[in-house]
Parts: sequence; structure tokens; C-alpha cells
Amino acid sequence: MHEGSSCAILSPRMNQVTENIMAIPKQGKVIAIDGPAGTGKSSTAKRLAELLKFLHIDTGALYRAIAYLSEENAQDPIQVAKSAHLEFRLVPKKNPMNRIFANSKDITSMIRTPEMSMAASRVSAIPEVRASLLGFQRRLGCSGNSILEGRDIGTVIFPDADIKFFLTASIKERAKRRLAELEATGADVPSFKELEKQMRERDQNDMTRSIAPLKKAPDAIELDTSDLTLDEVVQKMEAEVRSRLGI
Ligand code: DC
Repeated sequence: MHEGSSCAILSPRMNQVTENIMAIPKQGKVIAIDGPAGTGKSSTAKRLAELLKFLHIDTGALYRAIAYLSEENAQDPIQVAKSAHLEFRLVPKKNPMNRIFANSKDITSMIRTPEMSMAASRVSAIPEVRASLLGFQRRLGCSGNSILEGRDIGTVIFPDADIKFFLTASIKERAKRRLAELEATGADVPSFKELEKQMRERDQNDMTRSIAPLKKAPDAIELDTSDLTLDEVVQKMEAEVRSRLGI
């Protein structure tokens, strides 16, 4: 990861709708990780990025940031996506180290609530919002060796990724993991049943939207993480990456 003295700012221009994002050339290897919520994308991407010294880009944080700003400022999400300045910064000694800033404000913890999960899923179905983020995500990933996680990385943002993973897990296991994550933050948490219902609704939104729906790329490696520990998933992924990319 590109670490600066106090913090590194990863900030190519966003909000610029690029007609052909495939014209933006990759400067390094790109690993795509897609799948529904709670399958372990963020945790595995973070660990893999540390092991391989790749940049980790959580693209869901961008949709969450737009949803948050839109609600906070009572502004149309399309306008937010066109005008907001989003950036990832490495902030050493903070957890997580890779934090998201909107218009220079650290909003990392504000975007992690169940309400923001649902709101992010809603704004992510708006074609203009997706269009505003296309080039930004591609440029971030093209800046060096990168791991991007999301819903459409292997299908839309990096159909030319060097290796693609598609993570799955049972809904019960996913809701259990998400509940534990939320409880760890000390925030108010919904019941298991409510959380499971929200996840099903979000899966449905993300898989059936007309633009860039969540789906497995034909050449992605599918991994069911239901009965695997985080270490086991990371080990499998690392072995695949090292053997396929020769690193
Ligand atoms: O990964 P996450 O739970 O933080 O993502 C929040 C929402 O953002 C998710 O429900 C759908 C949307 N999303 C998307 O449409 N495309 C991506 N590449 C990443 C996230």
C-alpha cells in the first residue's frame, strides 16, 4: 500500500463521466472481489492487501458516502455524486487505516450503520450515480497493484482484472457475521431477524437493478465461505493469486 508520512491521499479526479473507462490503462495487477454483503469481501480484501502489499479499495464505501451526504444535506444523490469530493486516505494508528473522506471530512464511521447499508443499495441503482463513480474507481485501481471489492468489479469496472473472486455464503451465516460486526461497534443493533430481512432485501435490490447488477463474472473463482474461517478463506485466495500471478 502507498503509505505517506502521516497519511496518503488516493485521489484521482472523480465526477468525470468517462465514456470508455477501458481506455484507462492498468499500471499493475488488479484483483477483483465481488459478492453479496457479509460474505467476507472486506475482511479478506484487507488481509490479502496487507500480505501482497496491494492497495485495498472498498468501492461500497463510495456508494455509502453518497447516500450519507445525500441524507445529511437533503440533496439529490445525483447532484451529490456529481459534486462531492471523495477520497481514501491512509491514516496510520486508526482502525481501519484506510478511511474515507467526503469534502475533507472523515465519514468512515458514519457510513457503517444498517440504515446507510440500505440507503447505499438504493442510490447504487441510480444510473447517473454509478456513471459518476465509474472512472474514479477505474483510475484508483489502475494506479498500481490493487484489490477492489464490490458488486460489479469483475463485470464492469475491471472485466480485465488479473484474477477475479466471487464470494458467497448462506444468508444465516452472513447475517450472523454482520450482527457481530455491528455489535463490536457498540452501536444500536437490529435483531437477527430484522438484519436477515434487510440483507435479503439488499441482495434482491443489488441483483435485480437494471444497471451493473451483482453477478458472478464468467471467469471468476467462486468461493463459498459459509463454513470457512477468515484465515482459511485468505489462505485459499492467497494461494490462487500467487500461483496464477506468479508473485
Ligand atoms: O459492500 P457494501 O455493503 O459496503 O456496499 C453497499 C451498497 O453499495 C451495496 O448494497 C450495493 C452498492 N455497491 C454497488 O452497487 N457496487 C459496488 N461496486 C459496491 C457497492
